Amino acid sequence: WGAEGHRLIGEMAEAQLTPAARAEVTRLLAAEPGATMASVSTWADQIRSPETAPWHYVNPPPGDCSYERGRDCEDGQCAVEAVREQVTILKSGASDAQRLTALKWVIHLAGDIHQPLHAGFKGDKGGNLYQVRAFGRGTNLHSLWDGALIRNRAAGIDALRVDASTYGAAAPAAPQPAAWAIESCKVVSSPGFYPDGRFIEQSYIDQWDPVLVARLKSAAQRLAATLNDALR
Ligand code: ADE
Ligand code: ZN
Ligand code: ZN
Repeated sequence: WGAEGHRLIGEMAEAQLTPAARAEVTRLLAAEPGATMASVSTWADQIRSPETAPWHYVNPPPGDCSYERGRDCEDGQCAVEAVREQVTILKSGASDAQRLTALKWVIHLAGDIHQPLHAGFKGDKGGNLYQVRAFGRGTNLHSLWDGALIRNRAAGIDALRVDASTYGAAAPAAPQPAAWAIESCKVVSSPGFYPDGRFIEQSYIDQWDPVLVARLKSAAQRLAATLNDALR
């Protein structure tokens, strides 16, 4: 996701923390004055380097949305294993500085795995090589899902932000990053996800907007559940 998606997920997840997880998140974030889950959610893209670039996605084999570490995550360098590793650090007795960095990774990567094309196929680099025309300009399918569909949605970005008071705390749960990736892969593999032509019609936006919203909301709920479990 781009900044809007990550910020929405951070904001919606923060509203679903338990008191214990909220207290620890607040304590760790206090090292960076003014920081919130939304504001730190894009840090991992700002520090992008060749070493961490593969942590933002995973590529299951085409035609089979399954995940096997040895096959799909060379040397453990993919989003699924990165989430597992950073959650382990967050739960450990590592320093507050190390645990804050791990928290920032988990906030970002739990979001990314829910962007369908972050568990798309290697052949087209998760849609980055699939050129399309949308909203009056040339782009690619990955970029469309990362941001343009969110920025241009008719119902607005604010409408995605369900009133925080309507959320309860998410039930604590161990992270299931492989299951999240398989769900994303199945979205990418659904009929019509790759548009028939290279022009993104209104019918594409109408068909996929509910899926977009569901992926953002699921990301927030799973992120909160993960933090509520790790920081209990
Ligand atoms: N970004 C760069 N390469 C990618 C890939 N193979 N899958 C998803 N996102 C990517
Ligand atoms: Zn992306
Ligand atoms: Zn990312």
